[in-house]
Amino acid sequence: MTIKLDTQFLKLDYQKYDKIDLVPVIHTMIHEHTGEGSDYLGWLDWASRVDERFFQEIEETAKRIQENSNVLVVIGIGGSYLGSKAIIEMLKPHFPEDNQTEVIYAGQHVSGSYLKQLMKYLDSKEVTLNVISKSGTTTEPAIAFRVLRQYMEDRYGFEAKSRIIATTDGESGALLELAAQNGYQRFVIPSDIGGRYSVFTAVGMLPVAVAGLSFRDLLDGAKNAELELNEADIEKNVAYQYAVLRQDFYNNDYSTEILASFEPQLMYLHEWWKQLFGESEGKQQRGIFPASVVYTTDLHSLGQYIQDGKRNIFETMVSFVNKADDFYISEDRQNLDKLNYLCDTSLHDFNKKSLIGSASAHTDGGVPVMHLEIENFDAYHVGYLMYFFMKACTMSAYLMDVNPFDQPGVEFYKKNTYKLLQKNKKQEA
Ligand code: PA5
Repeated sequence: MTIKLDTQFLKLDYQKYDKIDLVPVIHTMIHEHTGEGSDYLGWLDWASRVDERFFQEIEETAKRIQENSNVLVVIGIGGSYLGSKAIIEMLKPHFPEDNQTEVIYAGQHVSGSYLKQLMKYLDSKEVTLNVISKSGTTTEPAIAFRVLRQYMEDRYGFEAKSRIIATTDGESGALLELAAQNGYQRFVIPSDIGGRYSVFTAVGMLPVAVAGLSFRDLLDGAKNAELELNEADIEKNVAYQYAVLRQDFYNNDYSTEILASFEPQLMYLHEWWKQLFGESEGKQQRGIFPASVVYTTDLHSLGQYIQDGKRNIFETMVSFVNKADDFYISEDRQNLDKLNYLCDTSLHDFNKKSLIGSASAHTDGGVPVMHLEIENFDAYHVGYLMYFFMKACTMSAYLMDVNPFDQPGVEFYKKNTYKLLQKNKKQEA
């Protein structure tokens, strides 16, 4: 068992879902690449397709960066940064360790103060940049890259170009042109893999390798998920069970899903999940709104709303059976804080009890709860889990009859902002 879908808190049964017969049909559609957007299904078998050359190139580049840099600045937004950020936050220690190359991010927002302070921070470090953009034209990372490229050129002169790596499309885009002209090392984002499905390509794997994590184990987990979640029969496919239950809630007026976990290290996994499901499903006036909480922190803030607020939410709790890095509460002779009843209880066990306690409270309050239980908290299982979500998301979006792989809505804000900035420029002239 790698992932178990525990439905003890649910009254629903996926077998009663009225579109259940569509599951094997959509499964075939996914695997035969016949559905809408099927040009972007390259991620489906990517983990079993990559060859030793891919592994070696990532490993050699990561080693070089670790040897000559204290900091890798990853420039990207959306799917170009959230995957690696999620993995690094999950698997790296909470506090930085000496002598390890730190991975930090830029271009994921537009903030003058952030960029100014970042450059000041970089002044005392040796730096490499990894600029990531599939389209090569996204404004936020393009702005950050212009600023940081100039910073690198001023600081390193001719050497700057060997400290800049571009991860982008293999055929077109401004970033590709810029990288080719300047002779930067390049990694290609396959044309059939979109941003939010690209975590297992160089987009996610280079920063993860630089952070000292085993990207081989992550890909191994994804590869096994690919095999195990390749079943048309819903009884044998936990990703499809999750997808179908989500859709059943949605059809019963539960329009918001809250992903909840009990480790602060999962906060960015939530962000990655929100992008995956939000951009894949939210179109044509349809879609489940993806939200997230980290417990027990949020039980003391949003917990009130979840227990007692508007009843349009369902919850998916994520937990791990085993967590190696744990802590036990010891006995205190005086026991003035009255906590001796927790003696020899690990904090991981405490969280397991909190999960059951909050799940049954929320169920009683009218919030249906699903529970995804993952065996171990390690790179292999994180790889498995991310693939699980991508497969479930694809099934879920197709059940909702939307294309899981485009994001036409994102273009609207871009066009408006561009128009306003151009107008300002004309007025100034
Ligand atoms: O999932 C997607 O495709 C998008 O959210 C992109 O990841 C995001 O817009 C960044 O795009 P790009 O990598 O082209 O800069």
